[in-house]
Amino acid sequence: MTTESQNRKVSKSAYQAIREFIYQEAGIDLGENKQQLVFSRLNKRLRYHQLPDFDQYADLIKQDTRSNERQIAIDLLTTNETYFFRESGHLDTLKSNVLPKHPPNRVFRVWSAASSSGEEAYSIAMILDDYFGHRVKWEIFGSDISSRIIEKANGGIYQAQRIDAIPRDFLKRYCRKGKGEYEGFLLIDKNLRERTSFREINLTRPLPEIGQFDVIFLRNVLIYFDQQTKEKIIRSLISKLRPGGILYIGHSESLKGMDVPLTLIAPTTYQMQ
Ligand SMILES: C[S@@+](CC[C@H](N)C(=O)[O-])C[C@H]1O[C@@H](n2cnc3c(N)ncnc32)[C@H](O)[C@@H]1O
Repeated sequence: MTTESQNRKVSKSAYQAIREFIYQEAGIDLGENKQQLVFSRLNKRLRYHQLPDFDQYADLIKQDTRSNERQIAIDLLTTNETYFFRESGHLDTLKSNVLPKHPPNRVFRVWSAASSSGEEAYSIAMILDDYFGHRVKWEIFGSDISSRIIEKANGGIYQAQRIDAIPRDFLKRYCRKGKGEYEGFLLIDKNLRERTSFREINLTRPLPEIGQFDVIFLRNVLIYFDQQTKEKIIRSLISKLRPGGILYIGHSESLKGMDVPLTLIAPTTYQMQ
């Protein structure tokens, strides 16, 4: 560590202020000891604003109403790790148990809530296009609190090293190889992009008018919330789930202890009553 960065270590008061900020803004509970994470994620913003310490940065995001710094801090403090065909067992059961029961005269709607950069949504899009073809209309809606990551999701361009889990046949049919300045990247097929849209939504706030969904994916985000926030989010989300609709959560997550109208039908898979 350089002397400069040692001087900038996250003081107790700065940590508490930043912890409170991200809890109030995103519902994310950092816990007692994530000073190192706060340091590594936000240190460059101190440099950018030429601030001597994290206390001053905490003051800046508390008071900042003019610039975009609060959103930048949220973008940096959220963990956006994701990849194509993550926890693909859910996609297998979607295909084998859910899609065959869908009435063909109604649009099949899926919400990838906390979608991160879109890999989850586009993986689902490949499954739906492959299964439904032209027989059934479908659409996917993705959302995330991070504006930076939503921009990336809307672009549908990904680094070619991060696509290992995409089945070979899908890779051929749904992904275009980049050329020239896009060498080493791939672009999701236009047909899938046209049916997949993304928008910034904070799940801890009242939800906008987004209609009803047949399936909601809420994976690998509940782990960041305390029990009270988790329950509030689940109640709010399932108001957008049709009766009989399916909710998938991440494999390390649980809805234990919640009094909600959902039936556990398989591990991490719930059905709306
Ligand atoms: C680890 S990623 C999970 C992405 C994807 N669902 C998956 O399983 O691969 C968690 C995402 O949740 C988002 N997130 C965190 N708090 C949120 C909130 N309050 N509202 C909406 N999204 C949130 C983060 O920005 C991040 O992109």
